[in-house]
Amino acid sequence: MKILGIESSCDETSASVVEDGRTILSLVIASQTEIHARHSGVVPELASRAHVEQIAPIVGKALDEAGLSFCEVDAVAASNRPGLSGSLAVGLSFAKGAALAADKPFVAIDHIMAHAWAAQLVQDVSYPYLVLLVSGGHTLLAACHAPTKLKVLGATIDDACGEAFDKVSAYLGTGYPGGPAIDRLATEGDADAYRFPLPNLKGNVGHYDFSYSGLKTAVVHQRDRFRSVTSKNTPERKEDIAASFQKTAIDQLMDRLEKALDETHISEVAIGGGVASNSELRRRLGDLAERRAVTAVMPPPRLCVDNGAMVAGLAWAVIRDEGPSSLTTGVSARVPAFRGRSENHRRGS
Ligand code: KG4
Ligand code: ZN
Repeated sequence: MKILGIESSCDETSASVVEDGRTILSLVIASQTEIHARHSGVVPELASRAHVEQIAPIVGKALDEAGLSFCEVDAVAASNRPGLSGSLAVGLSFAKGAALAADKPFVAIDHIMAHAWAAQLVQDVSYPYLVLLVSGGHTLLAACHAPTKLKVLGATIDDACGEAFDKVSAYLGTGYPGGPAIDRLATEGDADAYRFPLPNLKGNVGHYDFSYSGLKTAVVHQRDRFRSVTSKNTPERKEDIAASFQKTAIDQLMDRLEKALDETHISEVAIGGGVASNSELRRRLGDLAERRAVTAVMPPPRLCVDNGAMVAGLAWAVIRDEGPSSLTTGVSARVPAFRGRSENHRRGS
């Protein structure tokens, strides 16, 4: 079964054709980085407009690369939640129109579950597996029990991890997106020059939840308090700040992951999201896999960022297990289950 998958939930317009959930026949990703760079973050209205301009040529290119016409795909899928409403609506409407015109089934896909499926595009991962999804919009750890059965163990209660990379990079003047810049800078720095604190989550917060706003504040406003004894009397270097920030950001991810391995006894871990490209995260996950004899699935960056292949892949499993979606399916900007526990308590959900 060949499925056309469309992804437009944030600032990537992407389309892909995937056969039987796993074989990628084509994948095209148009990033909007240049459009948003001036604003050091994604501007929703600009994102929607760029999707409107890009969607038809990107889908056309994905079909061309797969050597197929609209009528030759077996179904059309698009992500419909969570994400920016206007952005989601562009891909979703396009997919519905294409499905209707070509008389093919239409499938609405949960973007977070699609990230979890990305691991299945790399190798056959048996259920259950843990998924650590870290991007500019999400930071969550979940146990994936089936293609559409995701139990969220924890999520960020404030900023996403990638957002912290972007803000620290903006502060250091190293550009947007901040992750790759900090990653590069950190290779020249001393990660022990600053001992930034890990969050102290209390109250209703789940012990797998994440928090990144305090780390960002510590880096930008209170750096001197956290200088280590050895670096106290040396001139300040951006490289050291980047390396120390990155280490602490990743310490938090690894801490939750180790806890989850201990408590769930699940022995396979997959990563996804833009931050999953981080070299330090990949190195430490590799070490952890070896030390604990667990399997770490680290998809290539193209499959970690927002992409149509994960949507097309998951759609195959959804059609198989649940059937197609109604053409009346709309978009949902938020999915309460994917927020940090304290936020859900505050919202009463
Ligand atoms: O998944 P993604 O492309 O888009 C969404 O957020 O939906 O993720 C983008 C985020 C940005 O915050 C970017 O700074 C971060 O991923 N990122 C990285 C790296 N590459 C991208 N963060 C840390 N290290 C990297 N190498
Ligand atoms: Zn995403």
